[in-house]
Amino acid sequence: MESFDAPYGATPLDPSELEGLKFKNIATRGQLDELESHSVSAGRLWLARRKNKPVLTDDFLKTFHIKLFGSVWSWAGKYRNTEKNIGIDPLHIPVEIRKLLDDTKYWIENGTYNRIELAARLHHRLVRIHPFPNGNGRIARLFTNAVLVNEMKEKHLVWSAGKLHVIPDNEERRSYIDALRAADAGDMQPLIKYLEVRNPA
Ligand SMILES: Nc1ncnc2c1ncn2[C@@H]1O[C@H](COP(=O)(O)OP(=O)(O)OP(=O)(O)O)[C@@H](O)[C@H]1O
Ligand SMILES: [Mg+2]
Repeated sequence: MESFDAPYGATPLDPSELEGLKFKNIATRGQLDELESHSVSAGRLWLARRKNKPVLTDDFLKTFHIKLFGSVWSWAGKYRNTEKNIGIDPLHIPVEIRKLLDDTKYWIENGTYNRIELAARLHHRLVRIHPFPNGNGRIARLFTNAVLVNEMKEKHLVWSAGKLHVIPDNEERRSYIDALRAADAGDMQPLIKYLEVRNPA
């Protein structure tokens, strides 16, 4: 298996990363999606059993990535060391993650943003850093929800019609990716609006 047709705004994997696939007989994107979705369900169960423990550490982020994707990818839980078309220089990932976690703690302690704006800013910074070879969108949506619930005692957000963390390859995904691109250019409003519409007060 050499590559998969990727959904809009998904990050292609390098050949070396594809070698980390633990199941060698996967031939289609559909089969991979299914494997990953089982793995992600197990990871979400792990998070739920962990109850309300703190999540704003890089140890948690890496462990959570292992719990979500570790049964599918051998490199789960390791920050990427390859360049991608999205994301910062891999050398800067550890320090930028720590800054983001510190900033988030500061925002929470000081009530800098409401729940939606905090989620939009945290989520965008995390996918912008793009710490892992794959699974960045899903972990960033689930991680943002974990911060809302565990650290802020707020309600989680819905990220697409009726879904907590999956954004299927449809019109809605276009709006989401376009909102992230606006945020890349410094305008947070489209992502804030995107979340407000799906999460009315
Ligand atoms: N221009 C962009 N700026 C910031 N983030 C982006 C941009 N384009 C895409 N992304 C993020 O990258 C994610 C895709 O990265 P990756 O393939 O690692 O995640 P995933 O969890 O496998 O994907 P999915 O979003 O399909 O669940 C998108 O879901 C989105 O969150
Ligand atoms: Mg992907």
